Amino acid sequence: MPYRCRECGYQSPKWLGRCPRCGKWETFEESRGAMPEGGGGEPPRPLPEIPTPSGERLATGLPEVDRVLGGLVPGAVVLFGGEPGVGKSTLLLQLAGRLASRHGVVLYVSGEEAVAQVKLRAERLGIAEPSLYLQSEQELLPIVRAVEELDPAVLVVDSLQTVLARPDGGEIGGLVQVREAAAQLSRLAKGLGMVTFLVSHITKGGEFAGPKTVEHLVDVTVQLEGVRESELRLLRCVKNRFGSTAEVAVLQMGPSGLTEVANPSLFFVSQDREPKPGAAVVPVLEGSRTLLVEIQALTAPGSGFGPPQRRTAGLDLNRTSVLLAVIEKYLGVHVRAMDVYLAVAGGLEVREPAADLGVCAAILGSVRGRAIPSDTVVVGEVGLSGEVRPVRRGPERLQEVAKLGFSRAVAPKGPLPKRLSLDVVQVQTLSQAMDALELG
Ligand code: TYD
Ligand code: MG
Repeated sequence: MPYRCRECGYQSPKWLGRCPRCGKWETFEESRGAMPEGGGGEPPRPLPEIPTPSGERLATGLPEVDRVLGGLVPGAVVLFGGEPGVGKSTLLLQLAGRLASRHGVVLYVSGEEAVAQVKLRAERLGIAEPSLYLQSEQELLPIVRAVEELDPAVLVVDSLQTVLARPDGGEIGGLVQVREAAAQLSRLAKGLGMVTFLVSHITKGGEFAGPKTVEHLVDVTVQLEGVRESELRLLRCVKNRFGSTAEVAVLQMGPSGLTEVANPSLFFVSQDREPKPGAAVVPVLEGSRTLLVEIQALTAPGSGFGPPQRRTAGLDLNRTSVLLAVIEKYLGVHVRAMDVYLAVAGGLEVREPAADLGVCAAILGSVRGRAIPSDTVVVGEVGLSGEVRPVRRGPERLQEVAKLGFSRAVAPKGPLPKRLSLDVVQVQTLSQAMDALELG
């Protein structure tokens, strides 16, 4: 790093008029002596003498996305993962456009597509920001040169797996190249105070291929996930040095790219909400947000030949088997020989034990041919001895349920929020819960 701010010691590969860290003007001077690369060489200083970084945070203006990103400070490096085709390039181009209109120059580098292709997509997305620069490049050196020339507020590298960081680093997309690219790009980002998005493909198994090994180099890791057979996408934060990791944004892929879903809480329950036997509405948590999902069950007498059919979509099959055994034992309902099919409407994956009671209610509803009233939700974990246990953030869920216009909840015993406009039937056992739902 040849230049250094004499006020705060900030280092940069080029001379800057204003220090991005302490905000002082004309403080950059050539640093003398060999400075180890990578921001080393700063002497220790007493805490009060270190200038507080400016509170400036970059925002895209999409509240859902900004909530997940947690407000990006200058120099932040964001690893942006997702399976191929999920919409990473689309969303990042949209974010690049929005950031360019609010924060100045943004450089979007694609190693996978020609600029003409990216331009076509930008047109389709209605992006025409003059401060958005496109570059089609795989080699790191020209990317760094472009950064030094443009001094962008934001850099997008799409993707990390297409960067050729060193000629002797083996095949492109290989571990050495990916690691080296991430290391050099995050060093550049820190040195210039430039927010950097590094796109990274995730394989089907959900692992970052290679980039799992670069996670320690980045400040924020987000993942764009598809929702089974739907246009819905969840942008989930898995690591955040600047904010909460609990946040999830619900987005929808359409002809003009990804848009925010107006009312995600109610997105997963059918709009008519006609009471149907075998359906139960459950408040589940996605990050800090309560989503209402409809769990659907279909039971039928087994054929008698071989083991009964058990199928689930969006629910854990093992958990379902346990719940069927609990129903058999504590309610005396003979589900053992029945074929049981379970699904979460709308394609969401529900892994929370808080959905147990809803799963049981849906199964019982189907067995009895009786519907749960459409103004009622069911929540609670079911234990092996047939007891109903409290759930994480139970009061918050009920608060949200009330806000969304439901009037009744069957829930575990426990503290309730004050002034709750919801009739809560508190239960301690599965059998009490089924009685309350008139499924007993
Ligand atoms: P893409 O962003 O290329 O995915 P990734 O970079 O994660 O591999 O998007 C892939 C899909 O998105 C592609 O099948 C087309 C679809 N798409 C839309 O539905 N609407 C749009 O406006 C755009 C640009 C893409
Ligand atoms: Mg892409």
